Order: sequence, then C-alpha cells, then structure tokens
Amino acid sequence: MGQLGSEGEDIIGPWSEEKLDLLAKYLKAYSAIMSNQKTSNNPTGKPWLRAYYYIDAFAGSVRPRTKADEERYIEGSPLRALQTEPRFDGYWFIDVSPQRIELVERLREEFPDCAIEIRQGNCNEVLCNDIIPRFPRASIQRAFVFLDPYGLQVDWETVRKLANIRTCDIFVNFSVMGVTRLLPREQSPEPEVVEQLSKVMGNTEWINQIYRTPTEHQLDLFGNQEPSPSRTTLRAEWLASLYTDQLRTLFPYVSKPVLMKNSTNSVLYALCLASHNQTAISITNDIFNRHERLKQIGR
Ligand SMILES: C[S@@+](CC[C@H](N)C(=O)[O-])C[C@H]1O[C@@H](n2cnc3c(N)ncnc32)[C@H](O)[C@@H]1O
Repeated sequence: MGQLGSEGEDIIGPWSEEKLDLLAKYLKAYSAIMSNQKTSNNPTGKPWLRAYYYIDAFAGSVRPRTKADEERYIEGSPLRALQTEPRFDGYWFIDVSPQRIELVERLREEFPDCAIEIRQGNCNEVLCNDIIPRFPRASIQRAFVFLDPYGLQVDWETVRKLANIRTCDIFVNFSVMGVTRLLPREQSPEPEVVEQLSKVMGNTEWINQIYRTPTEHQLDLFGNQEPSPSRTTLRAEWLASLYTDQLRTLFPYVSKPVLMKNSTNSVLYALCLASHNQTAISITNDIFNRHERLKQIGR
C-alpha cells in the first residue's frame, strides 16, 4: 500500500511500479486500437468511434517516491496516461485530496496540448454524477477507467453504473488486503463490517460460507470436491477470483487477476480488467502472463 509522504506525496513499494508498468503496457495497446476505430483502419473498414478518454479515479501524487530509495521519483498513473501514444482525446483526473489535486493541476502546463479535466472529490460521486452521464452509448465515445484506491474506496454501485453504461472499461486494483483485514479470525464479522463489505463487493453470501462451522464445511465435501474455504484457510487467490466472478455478473469479459505482493510475499492487491470487448481481455491476459513469466525467471 502507498504511504503519505511529507508533502502529500505517495511513497510506494515495488508492487506499485509493477502495477504502473502493466497499466502503461495496456494503455499503449488500447490507445493504438481505439485510435484506429476513429479511422477506416479497423475491421469494419469505417470510422465509428467519435472519441476515447482516459479516466483516473484515484490520480494520486503524479510523481510518487519509491520506498527503497526516497530520492527516486517514478511516473504515476496520470503521467503514464498522458505519455501514451497515440494520445487519448481527453483525460479526467479525480482525487479526494486537495494537495494531490494541486499536483495534478500542474500537468496542464506540462501537457498544454492535452484536454485535461480535473475534479477534486470522492470518485464515486464524481463518476456517478458528473462523468458517467457524459458517456451514453449514443455519444459514440469510449472510456478507460482506472480504479486504483489504497483500500476499499470503490463502491460496487459505481462499478455497476460503469458497467451498465456499456461504454467504459475498468482496470481495477482491488484491495485484497483491505478485505482480509476486515474479517476477524475468531468470530463472524459485526453487521457494520458485513455492510461495508457488501458496499464494495456487491454480495455477502461468501461471508456466511467462510464462517460456517467445521462440520458444515465437512458436509460440503462430496467425493473429491474441493473443500470450500473457511476463514482460517482463506487464500488471497480465492478472494481475488471471488471479485473477478462478481465483475463477470456485470461485464461480459473479465481478465484473470494479477496478484500484487509485498516483500514478504503477502498479497496486497489483485489487478484486473473488466470490459465489453473480448480482444481487450486477450491483450490484458497476454500482458499479465508475460509479466508473470518474467517474474518467475527473476527479470
Ligand atoms: C494509490 S493512490 C493512487 C495512485 C495513482 N493511481 C498512481 O498510480 O500514481 C490513491 C489515491 O486515492 C486518493 N483517494 C482516496 N480516497 C479517494 C476517493 N474516495 N475518491 C478519490 N480519490 C481518493 C488518495 O488521495 C490517493 O491520492
């Protein structure tokens, strides 16, 4: 997870750099494909798309510092998007922090030729009330929405609205650790916690499942079936696929999740794409698979 630096800067671990590199790779592929949809250089042979946008719901501090070397600044998600070629038709940056919005505002001078819109506030409100209504199907526009919270700040209702408009793809960095931390080991969570999880995951049936008694778990073991997880055996991989399964109830296509781990190998986040386009998912899975292969061989 990112920490707050002295001037409202993010201080980030290596997993955040990985996330940003994956984002940049996907944005390059996405923008190349989308720019062709505005010309006749696409499978339909006709231009059909009016414009496509990048929307960063958690813009951050633009140039976060690395934890390992606090003298080293890296390029955060707004810069990765603004540097992508071909360019997007416009960029929306949202952050709840006024300090961070000040840093984001400076990007207008750095990128005078880019159409930049900036909003300070809770991204759920800004997305639902201000941005999503601008992207109806009839607008013939598309948007790529990056949802990169520290914790559980993305409401499931926002995800539902983004899906229902059918013009927005979402790249989500889902906080697996944020969920695990809310689940007590010894007893079922309090109703307020269940409510909080429901707000983020859109479903809480799985909570009953993991807090069943051992006998109830055993009763599930018909033949060789895999046992359902319990709180004590709960794995991050299971939570990540629970979230991607939930996304599949809203979006026709969802990528595999890539797990972001810290130096002690604990899973912090699961990164995935939910889209209305199958090709987008194939591209993402290729990028993720390549990333995992390179990690395995230590590069
Ligand atoms: C993980 S950082 C974003 C990092 C950035 N995406 C990057 O990769 O460079 C999370 C950011 O979300 C902001 N934030 C927290 N809650 C928010 C909310 N509800 N709506 C919008 N921004 C929020 C924080 O101020 C912080 O800058």
